[in-house]
Parts: sequence; structure tokens; C-alpha cells
Amino acid sequence: VTTDREACWLTTESSKPRTEKLLLSLVGDAPMFATIRRLCQNHAAKFFVETAITDRDTGKSNVIIGTWTSLGKESTPNLGSEGYTIFSEEGRLWIVAEEERGLLYGFYHFLKEIQLGTPLLEISAQEKPANVFRMINHWDNMDGSVERGYAGRSLFFEGGSFTKDEDCMRSYAELLSSVGINALTINNVNVHEQESALITNRWLPEVAWLAKLFQEYGLTLFLSINYASPITIGGLDTADPLETSVADWWERQVERIYGSIPSFGGFVVKADSEHRPGPFSYGRTHADGANMLAKALKPYGGHLFWRCFVYDCLQDWRDRSTDRARAAYDHFAPLDGAFADNVILQIKSGPMDFQVREAVSPLIGALKQTKHVIELQITQEYTGQQIDVCYLPPQWKEILDFDTHANGKDTTVADLVSGRANGGFGQGMTAVVNTGRDENWTGHSFAQANLYGYGQLAWNPKRCLHAIAEEWADRTYPYLPKNVRKTIVSIQECSWIVYESYTSPLGIGWMVNPGHHYGPNVNGYEFSPWGTYHFSDRNGLGVDRTRKGSNYVSQYAEPVGSRYENLQTCPDELLLFFHHVPYTHVLTSGKTVIQHIYDSHFDGVEQVKAFIAAWESHKQELPEALYQHVRVKFDAQLANAVEWRDQVNTYYYRMSGIEDKHGRTIYR
Ligand code: GCU
Repeated sequence: VTTDREACWLTTESSKPRTEKLLLSLVGDAPMFATIRRLCQNHAAKFFVETAITDRDTGKSNVIIGTWTSLGKESTPNLGSEGYTIFSEEGRLWIVAEEERGLLYGFYHFLKEIQLGTPLLEISAQEKPANVFRMINHWDNMDGSVERGYAGRSLFFEGGSFTKDEDCMRSYAELLSSVGINALTINNVNVHEQESALITNRWLPEVAWLAKLFQEYGLTLFLSINYASPITIGGLDTADPLETSVADWWERQVERIYGSIPSFGGFVVKADSEHRPGPFSYGRTHADGANMLAKALKPYGGHLFWRCFVYDCLQDWRDRSTDRARAAYDHFAPLDGAFADNVILQIKSGPMDFQVREAVSPLIGALKQTKHVIELQITQEYTGQQIDVCYLPPQWKEILDFDTHANGKDTTVADLVSGRANGGFGQGMTAVVNTGRDENWTGHSFAQANLYGYGQLAWNPKRCLHAIAEEWADRTYPYLPKNVRKTIVSIQECSWIVYESYTSPLGIGWMVNPGHHYGPNVNGYEFSPWGTYHFSDRNGLGVDRTRKGSNYVSQYAEPVGSRYENLQTCPDELLLFFHHVPYTHVLTSGKTVIQHIYDSHFDGVEQVKAFIAAWESHKQELPEALYQHVRVKFDAQLANAVEWRDQVNTYYYRMSGIEDKHGRTIYR
């Protein structure tokens, strides 16, 4: 395991060292001070001519950190357990919070400003996270592989055991907590045999070691569990949630876990989903299944994240009455109010599966009395697999800003998941993370920005996207000339739309190679059991989800459903998600669908060429390693984009027989 990490936003050297000394006082006895001390030595110290840390205010210090109580100061606005205030008073800088986690985040804020060159006494902030949970989910397996991982092997596991590389784990914990992430799972939602045993005595000491380390950075550790554990590791003959023996078994198990890990967060469960076991096998509901586990966790303050990714993955493609998009809502909306108060439903952002473009899940907004979080995908399963550049915060921002009309106009997804619009039932955000053991953490160095942006938006969904992108680039590449950073930011900012333009059109999704999901295969999923079809024929394409079709539109609050129902008001980018239309249908852009498909696919490739040209124009200003790293990725992206362009264009030319208006090359 390598610990010599390449630069990221937290570790880059200063390009303009400061002229001050840092005399830091940590006032009080917060255990978090040990972490802050380490962060200061590892990251802040290199910016100052000299650094000294004391554990009380000697009167000489220029930066003072402590809780309102330890400093004997009157607390100003209540910013909660994770909020903080930074201000200058009597020529010194104060970082003050209610509780220690606030001090940690306050220190990271200070560090950021130091990196960006802000004069000490000009640093000022008053911050409080919008979301309770700002979580990530690892899909790591104990053999060291990572499901949908594109950044090397697992950070936590190898060869059936834990890597236990303390330096690496600390660097990782810093990376996560520096952007405000406060919870994580370490193992895949598909819990196989080995990982089922993570909750047993065999592995609890290792889990406890990790949990303790992460806790030092304000990160709560959770585990994904196998619903059938009472059978597979408990030796019972059932996992029926209403059987007393099953409930008792879980209670004992949970008691043992908290015995070794008092800070343990709880479980994440993928049940009755893609062949994973669940309560359906026993004729029980998801509320029965979840509540039994939640009850075992309750005495210790634990939470149960229960995933809503439940659908028929053995669909017959001939069956036109089943629409996978309906599934999460159909399963969970009727159970609203039936879940225990420490159950948190985990809802994928879209009704299908992390496509480059899909509608927002109508289940968000439908739950009025059930706790829930939104689940995003930082790892780029369907969005270029960290080969193609695809900066996702613009997609997430669109989702978060989406007006569900759930409580009338202006009920955004951000308001719902943060709990602001539903009396606290929204519990925040979680996301499948994109990190691994690669030197740069994320495979493509630019993909670090997706993790950075996720943390920023989870903390504050209202933050300006451009500011996030610029801040990431300024912190990560302080040594590059401003114009080069500007190029990087502008590539990042349009990369999602570029990726969309050369892949599946107008919200239809998939068209990827089955299994690994990289590269084009228009009919790869057309006759599969996964419920993922585009229904192209010689007349047209798209999925009819209107009232005449699957009636999926009726899962939305009005007027959202009607807006999608109506061809005139359905947004172009989602047209084929909601409608089956002829190739000659005219979009609101004025183009026909077929011409849009041709244009966007030709354009997409040109845009990737423009990325490469821009990168080449900076060749002299870039360090060789960074230049090469990105260039190699761009070349692979271009080859991918060309393949997508040609397969999609040829497919639809052959289907429709309609020529490209501009006479460009389409292979016959
Ligand atoms: C997708 C993905 C799987 C994953 C699943 C999930 O289908 O391809 O690898 O297990 O989502 O979210 O559970």
C-alpha cells in the first residue's frame, strides 16, 4: 500500500509562502485538539515562517481555537454541533464553535483561506451545514476489489483482510473531513460471504480500529450488512423479521458491536434488490424488515439506512406493463409513516440508476413522515469511469435545485433532503464514492473535484458552482499559472454536458456495454431483464411514461407531472425519458430529434478535441507528469467519444433512413 500521495486540494505546497508566524492556541480539553494539532503540523505549518502550538492562551498567540465555553465567551447565533464562527478581535483571529466537531470544520476553513492567501485577520466566517448526514458509501469488497471502482484497489481491504495502513487511513480521513463529510460505510452494499462476517468477533477489532481513527476526524463509521445474516452467519433457518429468534439474534449482534465500537453509526441495507435477500422472501414488508433492525440499533443511538433501489431485475423485455422507473415510489410511498424514527430511507437521485441524465426521483417529496436521504453517485459508473472527464456537481446542483412542488411551489430537493421543507424528515445526502488506492485517489486527477464538489454541496447546496470549481483548482494547482487553472475549470464545467452529448440522447439512458458499462452498445440492454429499454424502431424512439403509457408521470406532484406529460412543456433533455416520439419530432430547440442526435454526437467529439487542443496549448506551462496523465486520459476519452458518435449515428441512420442535414460522415 502506498502512502506517498500525489497532490490534492489538501496537500499541495504553497506557491506564495506567507511572511507571518503562526502562534496557535488550543484552549480547553477537546479530544479533537489532537487532530487539529496534527492537521496544523501537516498542512498549515508549511505556509508560515514559523509555527508554534500551545494549549492555553498565552496572550501572544495570533490564532485562538476553542469552544464558546472554554473561551468564556458568550455564544452568538446557534450554529449547532458542527457549525463555527471565525472572526478577528483585538488583532487576533478566533475560531469558535459550540462543540468540537465545529472546531475541526472551523480549522479546515482557516486552512483553506491560508492556502488561498487570505490575510490572517481578514478571515471571517459563520457556517453551519445544511444537512445532518453528509455521507459516502464505499462499494469495497474484502478481496480488495471495488465494485464500480475506477481508482485502483480498495483503501480498506486486500486479500480477504484489512489493509490497516494507518498513514493512508489518516490521509483519507483528512481528505473526507476537510470537505465536511461526516459518515461513511466501508463495504459494498452487495454484502458477500466474507463481508457478512464484518459484524462478527472475527473482524470487530479491525472495524473498531478504523472506526476510532475516523471518529478522530468527525467521521462516523457504518457497515453494510447482509439481510440474511441470521442464516448465513447465525446458523438460524430463517431471517424473517417477525420471528423472535431473528430479532433476538440481531439484538445480540448489535450489542456486541457497540461493546467494541461505542461510536458505531449503524447499518446500510440493500434488501430485495438485485438478488440480495430481504423481507419479501418471508412475505413481510420493507417496514417490517427495517423496523426490526432499527429496534436493535435504537438503544445505542444507531441509524438504519434502508435503500429504496428495489425493482424487478428479472423483467421480461416483452412485458410492456412494467416500468422500472415506477418501482421505488410504488414500493415505498405507500409505506410512508410506517418506519421507525431511526430508519432513514436512502433514495437514488433518479428513478433508474445514476444515468448521465434522468428525471429526479418522485419519491423525494412523496415521503412526508419518513426520514430519508438522497443517494448520488460520485464514482463515474455511467459517466465515463474516470477515464472521460465528467465533472458532476452541475448535475447534482440541478437535482438539488429541482422544484418538486411537494409542498407547493418552491419545494426544492435541497429543501426536502435537508429537512427544511418537511419538519426534519430529510436527513441529508449520501453518495457512492470514487476513491481508491491510486496515487491521486480518484484515477483521473480531475475526478478529485467530484469528491470536493460533493462535500461542498452536501455542506451547502446553495453554494455557487463556479466558486466551488475555482476554489478546487486554486487549492489543487496553486503552482499553475492562473490561465491554466482557468482552462481546467472551464473544461470541468462543461464536461458533463459534453459527455451527455456523445452518449445516450435526450434522457433515454443506457446504450452502454452490458456488465462493465463503459463505451457504447446501443442495444446492449434492449433485450435484457433489467428494465432498461429505449424501444427504437423505424419510426421513433423513447419510453412512454405518460398517462397513456406507464403513467409514471402521475408519481410527481402537480404541476410537475403535467409538465412532463405534455410534449410542449417536457424539457428537451428529458424528452425520450418521458415520451416515445417520431424521429421527425421537433424539439423546443427547433431541431428534429434525429438531427439533434446527429448534431450532438458530432459536437461532442469536437468538444473533446477542443479539450485536447486547450491542454496542448498549455503544454509548456504544465509539469510533465500532470500533462501526460491528463493527455493519456483525453486520448482514451476521444476514442470513446468517436466510438459513441459513430455507433449511435449509424444505428439511428439505419433505423430512420434520414440523412444528416450537414452531410457529415455517418457509416452506412
Ligand atoms: C447499479 C450498479 C451495481 C450496484 C447497484 C446498487 O445497478 O451497477 O453495481 O450494485 O447499482 O446501487 O445497488
